[in-house]
Amino acid sequence: MTNVTKSGAATGRRALVGAPLLVAAAGGRPARVPVWFMRQAGRSLPEYRRLRAGSSMLSACLNPELVCEITAQPVRRHGVDAAILFSDIVLPLHAAGVDLDIVPGTGPVVAAPVRSMADVSALPVLDGAAVGPVAEAIGLLLRELGDLPLIGFAGAPFTLASYLIEGGPSRHHERTKALMHSDPRTWHALLDRLAEITLTFLRVQLDAGVDAVQLFDSWAGALSERDYRELVLPHSAKVLSGLDGAGVPRIHFGVGTGELLGAMREAGADVVGVDWRVPLDEAARRLAAAVPGGPAPVVQGNLDPAVLLADFDVIEREVRRIVAEGRAAGGHIFNLGHGVLPDTDPEVITRVVELIHTLEP
Ligand code: CP3
Repeated sequence: MTNVTKSGAATGRRALVGAPLLVAAAGGRPARVPVWFMRQAGRSLPEYRRLRAGSSMLSACLNPELVCEITAQPVRRHGVDAAILFSDIVLPLHAAGVDLDIVPGTGPVVAAPVRSMADVSALPVLDGAAVGPVAEAIGLLLRELGDLPLIGFAGAPFTLASYLIEGGPSRHHERTKALMHSDPRTWHALLDRLAEITLTFLRVQLDAGVDAVQLFDSWAGALSERDYRELVLPHSAKVLSGLDGAGVPRIHFGVGTGELLGAMREAGADVVGVDWRVPLDEAARRLAAAVPGGPAPVVQGNLDPAVLLADFDVIEREVRRIVAEGRAAGGHIFNLGHGVLPDTDPEVITRVVELIHTLEP
């Protein structure tokens, strides 16, 4: 079915009344605790490894049939409450023409790191048509998923900037921090450009019909709250406010962000992702304090992905604790505190979903 948005553009968005994920995201009480997992698609699944054999990550992300199938695999297997588009945060940079690769076992590697104003000026702009295969994949998925919500996503300007400046994954983000402090003009110019690319990528996904979006600022937790507020928050806020009126929940996630939770909510999130370092009742308290008199905060998280490798009685205790603590928030979407680790037994994930679905929201 095709709906017509306020702007008059035809989209494939469906009206998913009552989907537990969307009810929880709006601060309502769903019929059951919704659950999905970051990286639910991927190397933990043998059917993924079979399908991916012989194709590069970036070419797989631009193959609509493959994206549709890989996205649907964990839904069929685990019975989760949402699908997340199979893609990558660096895909829009690649599609725009930035020379980069995703190296297995390492992550994104950038051929020519961005470290000067001239480098920033030379960055390409993303034409939405360049990620047309992503929109096509979403079209296939809307038919495949029926009334199950599909989550779209993009990388936040800071996390993308870290890959571009460091040239690849980084433990300390030292060049990124050096640039942001010593050359704030170049820094803000870079984040402004990245916010535009991210917004274009998210709008393509929204126009194609995704039901929610997640902004991944995975490495923001490396920053102090002061630096985050001054050097990062305005750019993430530009992305999130650019989606005002889209009518879908915006999830804002990072790792190690206990000290940043309030600021991440202020950036314009409807749902804030919480890793495993802060319990959800405490996270809800910090989020509520950030917006006095605002609606009760909605949280997503916060099982430690490593706990899935422990004995099941340990997992069950942790799941029950997290669901109980999540009741302190205005809404709770169960998830891990970060992505599924590749060595996770997928049968354990399925059991965790079954357990969560027996618990009172
Ligand atoms: O959650 C999902 O199921 C959707 C898929 C997804 C992928 N990347 C697929 C992927 C999502 C949401 C991402 C986002 C992403 N990519 C982030 C933010 C989320 C996070 O983990 O914090 C980041 C930082 C990246 C960058 C990136 N891409 C890394 C660090 C890696 C892993 C490198 C490795 O091999 O260990 C990738 C590659 C990648 N993205 C894989 C998958 C399934 C592995 C590719 C493979 O199968 O070889």
